[in-house]
Amino acid sequence: MADKDELSIEQILAAARQQDGGGDAVPVSETVPAETPKPAAKAAAPAKPGKMSVAEMLAAARVGDAGGGASESPAPASTAAKSAAPAKKPGAMSVADMLAAARGDKSGGAAAAKPAPVSKKAAAKAAPAAKEPAAATPSGPKDTASILSAARGGAAKPGPITKAEAAARAKDAGVAPVKKKATAPPMPAKPDYAKTVAAPTASTERRGFLVAATAIFAGTFFMTSALAIGFSSLAVTMLLWVLGTARFMFPNILTEPPTKFKVGFPDEYAPGQVATKFKAQFGVWVARYEYNGQPEIYALQSVCTHLGCTPNWLEGEQKFKCPCHGSGFYKDGVNFEGPAPRPLERFAIRLADDGQLEVDKSRKFKEEVGQWNDPASYVSV
Ligand code: FES
Repeated sequence: MADKDELSIEQILAAARQQDGGGDAVPVSETVPAETPKPAAKAAAPAKPGKMSVAEMLAAARVGDAGGGASESPAPASTAAKSAAPAKKPGAMSVADMLAAARGDKSGGAAAAKPAPVSKKAAAKAAPAAKEPAAATPSGPKDTASILSAARGGAAKPGPITKAEAAARAKDAGVAPVKKKATAPPMPAKPDYAKTVAAPTASTERRGFLVAATAIFAGTFFMTSALAIGFSSLAVTMLLWVLGTARFMFPNILTEPPTKFKVGFPDEYAPGQVATKFKAQFGVWVARYEYNGQPEIYALQSVCTHLGCTPNWLEGEQKFKCPCHGSGFYKDGVNFEGPAPRPLERFAIRLADDGQLEVDKSRKFKEEVGQWNDPASYVSV
């Protein structure tokens, strides 16, 4: 019997399983059968509460866990439990306590051999907490369902897993879960019409008023300037029109040189001399020479008889030479070269009352028609 107190945990569990299964288990029956017919003997030993056999402790525990209604347990065990209830009371221990006591007995500790008396309520409260570490002990679960549950729990759950399970596995594996921070897409830029416009302040309103006033003034000024320019142009046009009309009312006045003019005294002209000083002003040459052997003073018109050009007196060649086509005239005015068809023409000349020579351009004398013989066409000297 001393061997029963020194049962190992495996033996205790085997005995418990045997009792759960009806006591048919063969391996355990080898250690336990001797105890089954002695429940009363064990129950009748209240003087040794700490010296309960393992089977008794298990039976008492099952009775306590089941609340005394363990009708499923075999008769010897239930009988032993019921009969051992008074003796068990001081040691109303949970299964964990009993297992711990058994281990203490196995290790030979004196403290474990004498479990402290615990009330049934305290034992019931301590039972859940004590059961968890007992389940984690290497001794394993106490029944087959628990063994299977533990075996299933240790294996990896097939199929998909939840986030919590994945987190738990990662935590067990020492891998910190990576939390992917969700980033929101960037907000699109606000269009111009959606942007908030700052409320106008006093300075802004004043500036706006000044700008508006300046714009109005400038516009008025430019409009006024445009109107002024337009009306000024119209007034100038009207003035020019009036002046033109007035000018039309007064006809042009021809300021021709006088037809008669004095060319000096006859003594001022030397024989054979041609005076050219009246050519530019009056278009006349005054010469003192002879015509048909008679000396006289006469006035020749400085117009070529070809096409009306103005010839020049060439003092060195003693002739009049037309620059246009080369006609040449002698000193008395008769043509001798070039295309000129006839001699130059004479103006009328006479001695005025004051003794000076007076030329009258209103009368002309032509040599080809014999007019040079007219005494009005020369002054004899
Ligand atoms: Fe004097 Fe012709 S115009 S030569």
